[in-house]
Amino acid sequence: LEISLNIERMAFGGKGVGRLPDGKICFVAGVLPGEKIVAQVTNERPRFAEADLVRVVEPSAERVTPPCPVFGRCGGCSYQHASYPTQLEIKRAQVADTLSRIGGFREAVVHPTIPSPKEYGYRNRITVHVARGRAGFYEQGSRRIVAADHCPIASDEVNRLFSDLLASRPHDGEYPLREPATYRGFRQVNDAASAKLLALVDDLASPGELLVDAYCGAGFFAKRLGPKFRQTIGIEWSSDAIRHARADAREGETYLSGDVALHLRRALDVAPAVGTTVVLDPPAEGAASEVVNALVQALPARIIYVSCDPSTLARDAKMLGASYSLVHATPVDMFPQTAEIETVVLFERADGA
Ligand SMILES: C[S@@+](CC[C@H](N)C(=O)[O-])C[C@H]1O[C@@H](n2cnc3c(N)ncnc32)[C@H](O)[C@@H]1O
Repeated sequence: LEISLNIERMAFGGKGVGRLPDGKICFVAGVLPGEKIVAQVTNERPRFAEADLVRVVEPSAERVTPPCPVFGRCGGCSYQHASYPTQLEIKRAQVADTLSRIGGFREAVVHPTIPSPKEYGYRNRITVHVARGRAGFYEQGSRRIVAADHCPIASDEVNRLFSDLLASRPHDGEYPLREPATYRGFRQVNDAASAKLLALVDDLASPGELLVDAYCGAGFFAKRLGPKFRQTIGIEWSSDAIRHARADAREGETYLSGDVALHLRRALDVAPAVGTTVVLDPPAEGAASEVVNALVQALPARIIYVSCDPSTLARDAKMLGASYSLVHATPVDMFPQTAEIETVVLFERADGA
């Protein structure tokens, strides 16, 4: 069934949203807001439909030619057909929308997305899959392989590793390729954008008594912000990360090895709440409910929440919302060309203490 659609906005995951003649929402990949398109409905459910783009009838002025030959099939990128300023605005609008719909913050101030210094060639690691002798990346939402021998969002160095891998005629399997580093644990994927992220978090942290860096990895935030505080406590369950964090720790900088849900309460007891700032950088699942409960009970003065998933961010923000004001949110584009969104949110105690 071919239908005409007007694309109203972009949904999470990078698909455009239009409406079928009966008003039902329909998702289509590879389109942009404001475009008129013809699409083929591939899946119709009670509450929404999905369709494949057949042709763009009225293209957006923001449409550009995707540089990658496998764009549209490879599961990695969603926005190579969009100008970079458009990608940044799509992400900003999605953060504002999610904080409003899920978080209940209707008037949340969401600043413009901080751009990545590099729009391509930024990834310091990728995973290449090889199956039945074919090397490449997974298709969108499947484990079928799209054959590729280059990835334009990966750094030159990672692409050199990719060429070396292909030349070695690899067996079937999964091949993580990363730029060399001594520390093998979590590392932000885009070095230049992570410098922007670090500077932003540093700006938001005003000096105080105690900094708690929860989900601290090897101390990425703790080490930069630490000098502003009398004491710094990092919490992380990867022992390798903790070992690295401790290796060059200054006086007053300590690390607790284990679950944040288990250690946060104790860490917050160390100093008065009014002088305490918490940096929270959980994995995509967001903070555990015990973690949010510990925060709402101890009421540290500020919480700087660094999120890689706006929906779990909004869920946690809603729970914090009873005791905290959401001062503002700023997306940082850690993942250009993809639909992934990194956001920094500043919370301050609603009672102004
Ligand atoms: C998004 S990363 C952030 C790391 C660090 N802030 C950085 O920027 O390098 C999340 C980190 O939380 C750790 N982690 C995940 N769940 C945890 C938990 N329940 N308790 C402690 N650490 C956890 C992971 O090992 C990972 O290092």
